[in-house]
Amino acid sequence: MPHGQPDAPYPADLLKLVEDYLVALDLGADRRAARLVEAMRYSLLAGGKRIRPVLTLATARSRGADPAAALPAAAALELIHTYSLIHDDLPAIDDDTLRRGRPTCHVTFGEDIAILAGDGLFAEAFNLLLGRQQGKPKVVLRAAAEIAAATGVQGMVGGQYMDVAGEAAADDDLRTLHVLKTGRLIEAAVVCGAVLSGAANAAPYRAFAAEVGLLFQIVDDILDEAGEEGELGKSVGKDRAQNKVTYVSRFGMDGAERLAAEAAERALERLAALPGDTSDLACLTAYIRRRRR
Ligand code: IPE
Ligand code: IPE
Ligand code: MG
Ligand code: MG
Ligand code: MG
Repeated sequence: MPHGQPDAPYPADLLKLVEDYLVALDLGADRRAARLVEAMRYSLLAGGKRIRPVLTLATARSRGADPAAALPAAAALELIHTYSLIHDDLPAIDDDTLRRGRPTCHVTFGEDIAILAGDGLFAEAFNLLLGRQQGKPKVVLRAAAEIAAATGVQGMVGGQYMDVAGEAAADDDLRTLHVLKTGRLIEAAVVCGAVLSGAANAAPYRAFAAEVGLLFQIVDDILDEAGEEGELGKSVGKDRAQNKVTYVSRFGMDGAERLAAEAAERALERLAALPGDTSDLACLTAYIRRRRR
């Protein structure tokens, strides 16, 4: 389980489903790759908030589906997210030594193994999704395409590039950077939950999740400035030290808080347009707005 308790209500039963599934996941048993698998599990099972897989399951449940049925896709998203964290922490990128309350993967295992652990998690995510996700082939492929696109140049990796290259001259560029590096994977989490539970039209889900994704990264920027290291499980003050362009550096703390509040409001407006019981998704939106870790 993640260290500490979430600061706002969180669908605990969905979190447990995800956590149990990840712990039981077989990432390969060959003894010659044992250290690689150890590094992958070290980062994966270090107690993340599991926001993305929980969003997938919560979206499926809002539509009356059994959330457990979407677990392979949900877990695949967490594997990809964990890969992005391992690579984000490398000396060549953010050079961080603390993640999820423990030394970063490269600090513990070395850069060579950390790079491969990230690569391994990325590939195993698709292995899991394409090998184990139940559903009509067309639907599973739609989920796979969604996740691949959200990870690539028009998603997380493209956003990470804009981040390291300092490509955020205008306010609009900064928004795009956030949408790509963090927003798209969160969007994919919700869209996969919708698609796998039979939604023909993902557009309203995408519209809701896009605001949640932007909100998530604005709050991440705020916490880097104003969070508490012990609670956050990662170092604070890194963005300022590395001269990163963030919502806080661009708009100040008050400005970032106001823009986070506006994104949360838009997310809730868009949530109101979704069918079914959206109470878990409302809880998660509030949690993402109020989180302190
Ligand atoms: C941190 O993600 C990196 C970003 C995309 C902002 P999370 O805040 O979801 O990290 P974990 O998974 O809980 O560790
Ligand atoms: C990274 O953003 C987002 C990823 C795609 C991993 P940050 O660099 O701000 O994430 P943290 O603050 O290190 O978790
Ligand atoms: Mg970074
Ligand atoms: Mg970072
Ligand atoms: Mg950050």
